[in-house]
Amino acid sequence: MSESKRAAGRRAAEFIESGQTVGLGTGSTVFFTLERLAERIRDEGLEIRGVPTSIDTETKSRGFGIPLATLDEVEKIDVTVDGADEIDGAFQMIKGGGGALLREKVVASLSDRVVIVVGADKVVERLGSTFDLPVEVVPFARAVVHRRIEAMGGQPALRMRKDDSSAAYLTDNGNEILDVHHADGIADAAALERALHEIPGVVESGLFIGLAHAMVVGEADGSASVHE
Ligand code: 5RP
Repeated sequence: MSESKRAAGRRAAEFIESGQTVGLGTGSTVFFTLERLAERIRDEGLEIRGVPTSIDTETKSRGFGIPLATLDEVEKIDVTVDGADEIDGAFQMIKGGGGALLREKVVASLSDRVVIVVGADKVVERLGSTFDLPVEVVPFARAVVHRRIEAMGGQPALRMRKDDSSAAYLTDNGNEILDVHHADGIADAAALERALHEIPGVVESGLFIGLAHAMVVGEADGSASVHE
């Protein structure tokens, strides 16, 4: 599993050129992109500035010595490398397994090019078939959003912290996440994305439609293929 992530993550770092502003996604696959970028900064003198999509990625990037900028300091992003929880043949995705969907979508929307790094197990025929859809909600409206999503045919579950606190998981933005199961998968991801955005209290959905330009798929044998 981590060999396929490593292969994809490291391969994507080769797309980055000196002088670029780079969106830095979140997750265990992007970790390997950060690792390889740090090597290229050290060994080749690669000059970039990274815009992290989460506090976790910011911390890891600082640890790797990758120069960082905030969105206030950049007008656009040349290329973003990010992971996904599922991706289909049209590069539609479910993201947000790591809870960073809102910042990831903002950064992707500002990027000239978005490269998605995944292990081969994340490539699916139909979104929602292997992973529940994360939806970031304002805590105040959680119960209302929960009922609205149920009425639309989804089965939402409040994401909890992984420790023993029995407390709801909170995103970097102080919001909660409903992980929505779709028993038969998601038939029309674009339509569902629009419908979710019409619910007051929904901050963002983990459906990423029309945002990715390329996908790097890693395999267990350490190889990686690029799809554009
Ligand atoms: C975080 C994300 C991640 O990109 C997604 O969860 C994939 O993570 P990983 O590379 O660890 O499998 O969307 O919000």
